[in-house]
Amino acid sequence: MTPLEYLNDHKDKFLNELLDLLRIPSVSADKKFDGEVRNAATFVKDQLIAAGVDYAELCETKGHPIVYAEKIIDSTFPTVLVYGHYDVQPADPYELWDHPPFEPIVKNDRIYARGACDDKGQMYMHVKAFEAMMETNALTCNVKFMIEGEEEVGSDNLEAFIKEEKQKLSADVILISDTSIINNDTPSITVGLRGLSYLEVEVTGPNKDLHSGVYGGAVANPINILTKLIADMQDEDGRITLPGFYDDVLEYSEAQRAEMAKAPFDLDHYKKELNIEEVKGEKGFSTIERVGIRPCLDVNGIWGGYTGPGSKTVLPSKAFAKISTRLVSNQNSDKITQMIIKYFEENAPKSVKVKVTPHHGGTPAVVSTHSNGYQAASKAFEQSWGKTPIPTMEGGSIPIVALFIQELKIEPILMGFGLDSDDIHSPNESYGLFNYYKGIETIAYFYDHFSKISNKN
Ligand code: BES
Ligand code: MN
Ligand code: MN
Repeated sequence: MTPLEYLNDHKDKFLNELLDLLRIPSVSADKKFDGEVRNAATFVKDQLIAAGVDYAELCETKGHPIVYAEKIIDSTFPTVLVYGHYDVQPADPYELWDHPPFEPIVKNDRIYARGACDDKGQMYMHVKAFEAMMETNALTCNVKFMIEGEEEVGSDNLEAFIKEEKQKLSADVILISDTSIINNDTPSITVGLRGLSYLEVEVTGPNKDLHSGVYGGAVANPINILTKLIADMQDEDGRITLPGFYDDVLEYSEAQRAEMAKAPFDLDHYKKELNIEEVKGEKGFSTIERVGIRPCLDVNGIWGGYTGPGSKTVLPSKAFAKISTRLVSNQNSDKITQMIIKYFEENAPKSVKVKVTPHHGGTPAVVSTHSNGYQAASKAFEQSWGKTPIPTMEGGSIPIVALFIQELKIEPILMGFGLDSDDIHSPNESYGLFNYYKGIETIAYFYDHFSKISNKN
């Protein structure tokens, strides 16, 4: 029996187990769910043991535990380190979900639940591909699993873990499914991820909320000030105005940009999916470029004053915003964070106080298309999809990827199977059954090709 035959015989089992995992609300950002985050870790550990690893453990951290497991079949064989995350983003606002986010359902060949794609569905494909290879005696590589529970909050404790456990984590390649393909007819392999710098700004005006008639026009309104400061960070051309912001941005040659433009992209479809009349971004760049090779700045949340029903005439004491910048090579996250702090401190008028708190950062990552891992991934897609995957630069961030390269000196391969339309981080997140099963198949092929390519060298 081949792994593919085993997969075809166990589709229902593979699906039902994932649905069980999706029922656990492992929201890493919210303390209220700490117990559930641990339950998800234990679930993954138990499933790895059931699938046939030599051992699996929960590695305790200052935050959520890391699931580690390994199967060493022969120390002379190449080793694949699988990375993924079992934590998920908050599901808020719950009322926008057609079905409760932690009561997964399958509808129109799609699994709907928070984490269906990001990253429980994609991570679990690796557990099932491993099981399929174990059960059919097809495993030709050693495997290590490192599945964390803090990706969605910046992977702070994973950083310490990889710095301390270099020996344990030694491998020939790191395989990650936490990104997207262009579409189901056009497979792709992610070769770039953006970095980020995330901050929170608090602007304080008067020492209490005031009557907006009695004091309005005479005392600074922190919301007015904050929104102006934010608006001034970008110009008419969609460029960020902070002095020096673009200094380290790697410029791509015309030839490289022409190569990128070959990837299929349907702008009308893109706009239609989002129900927008026009796209918006930095002048002189295409949508693919704006996401893949250019930085951006976004307000992720903004609040203050009265937001309840009806109206209340109030001049608020405080205003807040959560702001992120997405960064590209060779921008440095700490440097950009300092730049933003300085901007607010220098430009806030004396009429208010401003406090900026950095949340988390992340270094952009670029992956080579020449490594054994890339070649194996490419061949695996050819075998399962019948098409050579296109290398793509994606806009999202997986901050730990740059650290894998820097600290472990192991090439990561971003072999994701999601689609932009899976609505990760949004209400009604979903993952196609086609992608789930095709992903498992492709992962199994990866091991086969990787062992063949590695042994040739
Ligand atoms: N899996 C995503 C990142 C991603 C999504 C990469 C789609 C490429 C395509 C990951 O779970 C994520 O959401 N990362 C955060 C990082 C942050 C919380 C530090 C992000 O990009 O916002
Ligand atoms: Mn993810
Ligand atoms: Mn995510």
